[in-house]
Amino acid sequence: MANLVLTIISLLAIGWTVVHAGEPSPLQDLCVADFNSPVRVNGHACLDPKMVTADHFLFKGLNIPGNTSNPLGSFVNRPTVDQIPGLNTLGISTVRVDYAPRGVVPPHRHPRASEILTVLEGTVLVGFVTSDPENKLFSKVLKKGDVFTFPFSLIHFQQNVGHDNAVTIAFLSSQNPGVIPIANTVFGSNPSINDDLLAKAFRDSISPHYSNSECKELGQSFIPDLRDKPQEREDLHRSLKMLPDGELNTQYGPDVMGKDQQNDGKIWRIIEESLEHSKAHWEKINQLANKSGFLKK
Ligand SMILES: *[C@@H]1O[C@H](CO)[C@@H](O)[C@H](O)[C@H]1NC(C)=O
Ligand SMILES: *[C@@H]1O[C@H](CO)[C@@H](O)[C@H](O)[C@H]1NC(C)=O
Repeated sequence: MANLVLTIISLLAIGWTVVHAGEPSPLQDLCVADFNSPVRVNGHACLDPKMVTADHFLFKGLNIPGNTSNPLGSFVNRPTVDQIPGLNTLGISTVRVDYAPRGVVPPHRHPRASEILTVLEGTVLVGFVTSDPENKLFSKVLKKGDVFTFPFSLIHFQQNVGHDNAVTIAFLSSQNPGVIPIANTVFGSNPSINDDLLAKAFRDSISPHYSNSECKELGQSFIPDLRDKPQEREDLHRSLKMLPDGELNTQYGPDVMGKDQQNDGKIWRIIEESLEHSKAHWEKINQLANKSGFLKK
């Protein structure tokens, strides 16, 4: 009997885990978010169904290109439950991203969602990285109509590697996926994370001021080192061949990276661009590194 009870409990536990891997299933047709309700639940309380209208399920304007004149060269339009109250309890939402040529969506993660992305226009480099210690990069260059998936909560990124503007649309498995941009959270927290801690954590910063081996070491703590991963490396190199070489060589000439390592230089450049976000972050890394005496003479 005890065994039977245990078995049933185990089965229930498994069932519970499966059902609740994503957001909970709705228990009613509609639970439009009632932003004025004082009731605190996981999500939003339901609006009185008698007050619900079609407008609660409507969002307009995802056809309109965003303004990409900013340091990242991208614009994200991400209507969540806050803009579409009808999304409440449904476990889905959508996002449009516009990219200028070379524009990036820097490495980030959604703490509550998987994502499926489609390229509507242009050529877009995408990738995600699995958890430590594997830190395995999965990356592709997508063309119009290609679809790519970012698994639940993993760090991922996008970059327009074509010559024209690019547009992607994606769907996320949460009414409120959240976003954690890695550079912003680490270098832009409020208040700041202790400088000494950051300096120590990022002592081998990925910057042109550092040697190849220093780059490599930071790479391992920040983004996977591709040097010992021929297949991923080749994939990425193939992706990056689309970038203009001239630009790269001015910043990462043979004097910095060594001629046979120019391809690695490209990778670091991409990573740096993705992480850049603002000059301030890089200045901060450099200052911290300098303060700690790690900057190369
Ligand atoms: C786009 O943003 C830039 C920078 O904020 C601004 O100068 C420009 O006027 C904007 N363009 C449009 C079409 O809104
Ligand atoms: C590093 O710090 C020294 C003094 O502390 C300063 O003279 C130098 O310009 C700094 N270098 C960089 C690259 O910030």
